[in-house]
Amino acid sequence: MPRKDFYYNKAKVEGYRSRASYKLKQINEVHKIIKKDDSVVDIGAAPGGWLQVARELSKSGVVIGVDLQKIEPLEEVITIRGDITKEKTKEKIKSIVEGKKKKKGDKKLGNGGPIDVVLSDLAPNITGEYSLDQARSIYLGREALGCALEILCHGGNFVVKAFYGTDIEKFLRDLNQEFETVKVFNPRASRKESAEVYIICKGKLTAPIKVGEEIVVEIVGVGKRGDGMANIDGYNVFVPGSKVGELWKIKIEEVRLKFGFGSCVSEVKRRD
Ligand SMILES: C[S@@+](CC[C@H](N)C(=O)[O-])C[C@H]1O[C@@H](n2cnc3c(N)ncnc32)[C@H](O)[C@@H]1O
Repeated sequence: MPRKDFYYNKAKVEGYRSRASYKLKQINEVHKIIKKDDSVVDIGAAPGGWLQVARELSKSGVVIGVDLQKIEPLEEVITIRGDITKEKTKEKIKSIVEGKKKKKGDKKLGNGGPIDVVLSDLAPNITGEYSLDQARSIYLGREALGCALEILCHGGNFVVKAFYGTDIEKFLRDLNQEFETVKVFNPRASRKESAEVYIICKGKLTAPIKVGEEIVVEIVGVGKRGDGMANIDGYNVFVPGSKVGELWKIKIEEVRLKFGFGSCVSEVKRRD
């Protein structure tokens, strides 16, 4: 039996609204995107296969689905009908998620929004002209990213579908600036002939700095490995080769969820 029929039939038998449900299941098996109690926003959610899987995985968290098409009601799922490229739809999503309080004692608390996971299986209407379809898939992915960056919590996860092609490299670089890890994944349930990939972004960064930025800092402490350490608005950056009390122009080399690394560019002399 061809693979497409296998997942189509499996969805029918197991009561899922689409064969796409198995893609999210496979993404989650490998990458652990959605955990118990997570709040999830699914963009491009109709007919609702991913929403059913998100509902099962999250158990008690809020699950919200957004699509141009009507999503038939699903128990314990909030649905929004709208175009994600329109400000009105993004405002509607924000107004619904704003009421949601962050969990008490959540170690991930930072200056992010209240949502743990944003999913995007958005797909453009296929014209058959590959370069156009690919560019439109990246455009939709970027719209989903814009929304995700406004509502995701510190450390939150984002999964976005894109068609493989030239534009994807730049998209991956931009995603790398916003998340701690970014990986490309092909679920077994994707059709063999499909050009789609899923980009798995984990750990939304809320650090006040980005990789490549140059900044002058005072070294105020020492890390466990003996590296000098600066503190930028509450965020620690380790600077190998520096000592407490020195002022350095540094270049940010790596940004992680809780700390980052910088390299010395030039020492700045203090004026007495
Ligand atoms: C592949 S389907 C999603 C399938 C879904 N993940 C599931 O499991 O049932 C892609 C969806 O993206 C939606 N879509 C495309 N462009 C959109 C836009 N600008 N705003 C909102 N939804 C959009 C389509 O209406 C379509 O339902």
